[in-house]
Amino acid sequence: MTTNISTENSTDRKIKILPSLLAADFLKLGEQAKEAMDSGADGLHADIMDGHFVPPITYGAEITKTVIEHTRARVDAHLMVDNPQKLFNDFKEAGVCGITIHAEAVNHLHRYLGMIRELGLEAGIALNPATAITETLRYTIPLVDRVLIMTVNPGWGGQPLILEAMEKIHIVNRIMHAKKAHFEIQVDGGVNAHIAGELVRLGATELVAGTAVFKGDIRENISKLRRAVEKGLRNIDEKN
Ligand code: DX5
Ligand code: ZN
Repeated sequence: MTTNISTENSTDRKIKILPSLLAADFLKLGEQAKEAMDSGADGLHADIMDGHFVPPITYGAEITKTVIEHTRARVDAHLMVDNPQKLFNDFKEAGVCGITIHAEAVNHLHRYLGMIRELGLEAGIALNPATAITETLRYTIPLVDRVLIMTVNPGWGGQPLILEAMEKIHIVNRIMHAKKAHFEIQVDGGVNAHIAGELVRLGATELVAGTAVFKGDIRENISKLRRAVEKGLRNIDEKN
């Protein structure tokens, strides 16, 4: 990809690495979540699926709460569910820092983002690979703390990253700067150390990684991702 990205000085940018619990060994969920945090993760990402919006069912607020109590980590809940508004209070009580809802799952996106904010949580919009961003974001920007760009179709971990979806990172980054807004640009799906630098260069501020963190040695995997992120930031500096 050759798009030229204008960003602020990269040294100002703190990129968060957020392991997705979906790829953990559920028999060792607490242990592995803690290991990820002790290995330098910046928080954890909880993938909530309901068997309707996406075919699989994962886990809910109770298990998320247990992980938060055990790790004291900042956890963002990615709700891949229909009627996500029905779960906001449960996840607030679970102790998450933010709730992200899919633009495709709701009729009242603006209202629901406001409801998340009113609970004192960070409000996020998630977009499937084929969902356009511009109009959705234009009318909700003051309510948005996070835009989650799906680089796989939601529902399963371990899928390859969809290259076409990466363009949206750059587009969202441009809109954010043009509007002088400030929110996280989270990329989720198929993230690994090979592509992390490019995602950062395009404007990602949060990288969610499941398989690339939990399959194999967690500590080593997180260091690999961190090194790739640092390299991506250095490349931006060199090009500026
Ligand atoms: C997919 C989820 C992702 C996914 C990430 O529906 O939202 O968070 O589990 O897993 P990997 O990194 O394995 O693609
Ligand atoms: Zn996710």
